[in-house]
Amino acid sequence: MSGPDQNRHSHPPAHRHGLREALHFVSRFIARPQTVGSIWPSSRQLGEAMIHQVTLKSGDLVVEYGPGTGPFTSVLRERMPAGVEYLGIEHDQELHRNLVRRFPGMRFHHGSAEETPEILAHYRLGRARLVVSGLPFANMPPDLQARILQATNTALECDGTFRTFTYLLSSLNPSTVHFRRLVADHFHDHHGSRTVVKNFPPARVLSYSKPVRKK
Ligand SMILES: C[S@@+](CC[C@H](N)C(=O)[O-])C[C@H]1O[C@@H](n2cnc3c(N)ncnc32)[C@H](O)[C@@H]1O
Repeated sequence: MSGPDQNRHSHPPAHRHGLREALHFVSRFIARPQTVGSIWPSSRQLGEAMIHQVTLKSGDLVVEYGPGTGPFTSVLRERMPAGVEYLGIEHDQELHRNLVRRFPGMRFHHGSAEETPEILAHYRLGRARLVVSGLPFANMPPDLQARILQATNTALECDGTFRTFTYLLSSLNPSTVHFRRLVADHFHDHHGSRTVVKNFPPARVLSYSKPVRKK
């Protein structure tokens, strides 16, 4: 991510997952495997790749779907230039509560990404410049995938960017293949994907821009 005043935040590098966060994540996975979708939080390296070469400026809005225990949130907190607004949307009540506690000053909504346009209206926020998704799309039924992608299209600026990831091992999984086809239908541009080996499991970042306006 680039932009003026990149290092404004004086927070310590809070990106290393404390064992407590990781264990908490695992416990949420055990409680709700389909919704949490991964047994271990993402790595710092994946977080870095998710925002690689995204340019933000004061007044822009960043929306994060499914921040979980906050690995991408930590990177965003360190890198967002002054004046950038952030909104995290987390479906799991306990994870949401912990995010509010762990990242004071950042805004988190307890709800579902499929409601993003309504959530932005509720907070009187405009369209997002960047949507970063940590959602387990491959575990989701096709109709939910479609509703979230439609909500993302509506919520993004015309020249906004949508970043998501898939696990390499699930690349040929029918649900992942379906998701990749569907997401390609919702955006005019798909930029080259980046593979991140230092993640458990290894992942591929997908970057899309220029949302197709369907309504
Ligand atoms: C695979 S975990 C990723 C967590 C974190 N971003 C990471 O990379 O470690 C998926 C997260 O998405 C959340 N989630 C699942 N469905 C959601 C939805 N419809 N809206 C918002 N969050 C959702 C889960 O509760 C979980 O925290």
